Amino acid sequence: MKILVVGGGGREHTICWALSRSATVFCAPGNPGTHNIGTNLPISPSDHDAVVAAIRENQIDLTVIGPEAPLAEGLVDRLVAEGLHVFGPDAKAAQLESSKAFAKDIMVAAGVATAAGEQFTDAKEAIDYIATHPEPLVVKASGLAAGKGAVVCPDRETAKTTAREMLAGKFGSAGDLILVEECLQGEELSVIALTDGEEVMLLPSSQDHKRLGEGDTGPNTGGMGAYAPVSIAGPELLDQALNDVMKPVLAKMAEMGTPYRGILYAGLMIDAKGKPWVLEFNCRIGDPEAQVVLPVLDTDLTDHLWRIASGENWTPDDLRYASSRAAVTTVLASPGYPAAPVKGAAITIPEELPPDSLLFHAGTSLDADGVLRTSGGRVLCATGLGVDVTEALARSQSLAEAVDFEGKVFRRDIAWREVARAGAA
Ligand code: AMP
Ligand code: GLY
Repeated sequence: MKILVVGGGGREHTICWALSRSATVFCAPGNPGTHNIGTNLPISPSDHDAVVAAIRENQIDLTVIGPEAPLAEGLVDRLVAEGLHVFGPDAKAAQLESSKAFAKDIMVAAGVATAAGEQFTDAKEAIDYIATHPEPLVVKASGLAAGKGAVVCPDRETAKTTAREMLAGKFGSAGDLILVEECLQGEELSVIALTDGEEVMLLPSSQDHKRLGEGDTGPNTGGMGAYAPVSIAGPELLDQALNDVMKPVLAKMAEMGTPYRGILYAGLMIDAKGKPWVLEFNCRIGDPEAQVVLPVLDTDLTDHLWRIASGENWTPDDLRYASSRAAVTTVLASPGYPAAPVKGAAITIPEELPPDSLLFHAGTSLDADGVLRTSGGRVLCATGLGVDVTEALARSQSLAEAVDFEGKVFRRDIAWREVARAGAA
């Protein structure tokens, strides 16, 4: 089978790697990592005509969309209209991520636990609401804002300023509509599922590390590392995620005429009683969650994605996929990331990677002389596998140390919560 993966970051390299075990992969536009395992097609995911032409020219059987933007832009709708097989939700269903207001309305209608709040287009109304609600508060731009659209505000003044700035265009039209909601407390957990709109298969749970610095300090980033599975996500919690979150939302989506097919990612806050509350939905695998969730799967991903996309009799082999292995990924970032990453440094990678170690490319490029250089904020993801998170972490860290470029920035405490739990047990 020939599969085209759309996108070009660490997530897409990981998806290509997972699919390449049983398929021939193409990636558009891809990166030097996907180049090593398949064929890169120099096409922008926004150029739908070029994507369709490349699918026909290369006789692609299945297209898998990595990032959210092409989903929101309707690439799936276009490919379906062309009679092509594609894995991912159409633009209407992808509103679950591209419109936080849409997602909130669906959750409320489906009776799914989520933060209480209100939606505003008018700054004065937002500010009046903020004035009468307890601190802290979370202010969110409804539209896609490259992961920066949710601001946790410790006090009302910050919330008011944030609301004003968003409605004044700080995130462009993504902030024309904002949500102000209560701030939930607890531990965050990512639960990512494959779904054909009815059946759901939960992939191993994972946890991202958004802050730049160790101890979860410093600015928010796209994610500095992740691990899977997470031990707080026991069978009872996963059953709640399946039956009280995923299934009711899918049923409501179908009922509203926007059936959902693809990856469904629930960003959850687990409260002190162990109950999951939904912070957000994404309609794609997380990045860097993909770099830990896919490597611990030993089911054939190609087969699942093909069956879901082609409408062929898909049955999850396990509702709650239980992995016998653990993975940790450490992101290597450029100096100055996230505000102003310095790019262009030459990268050295050990000729042979140690066992149970995987290196996924994100912001790398090959220059005219064939030298691999940094070309983005997040450069590489060093994934280690092991029987448990502690073993996986050691492998991830030693790979992160072994790869080098000037000014490389990385956290040495990925999975610290899990390591602390293992130590306490
Ligand atoms: P979102 O873009 O909605 O996923 O939010 C990004 C991040 O903001 C989440 O991963 C949480 O850390 C935080 N967040 C969002 N909503 C809330 C909330 N209601 N309470 C507490 N934290 C939140
Ligand atoms: N790592 C979080 C995300 O991909 O949204």
